[in-house]
Order: sequence, then structure tokens, then C-alpha cells
Amino acid sequence: MYLCLCKGITESDVREAGRAGCATASQLKAKFGLTDKDCCGRCAKHIHEFVELAAGEVPATCHSPVDCL
Ligand code: FES
Repeated sequence: MYLCLCKGITESDVREAGRAGCATASQLKAKFGLTDKDCCGRCAKHIHEFVELAAGEVPATCHSPVDCL
């Protein structure tokens, strides 16, 4: 299912980001370019849905998600 129609971001894309340790709202916005000028902002208003999906995938051994971007 698409979470962002403008950028074509799917649930699976967000889960994959979580597996890479990217799970905070700011990390996810940066990773998927949701603060770009061409974004409508609709999905950024629901960034908590991205966070919920990604957070469920973060490996327990991940302590430094710096590389997720
Ligand atoms: S729906 Fe995500 S930027 Fe428009």
C-alpha cells in the first residue's frame, strides 16, 4: 500500500528503512525527502504512521541509526 503518492513510498519501503535503523520522524522525513519543496505535505502530516511501521522493524542490535540516510 502506498503511504505517499507523490513520491511513491510504500509500506514496504518504510519497513525496509526501519530495518536499516531509520525510525524517527525526522530520519524518515529526511530519508524519503518529505520536506522537499515538491512535496504536498499530506503524508508528512501522518508521519506517525511511518514511524510505527519503521519502529517495528528496527533490529534489536541497532544502536546507531546514522547510516540509514
Ligand atoms: S503524499 Fe507524500 S508528499 Fe504528497
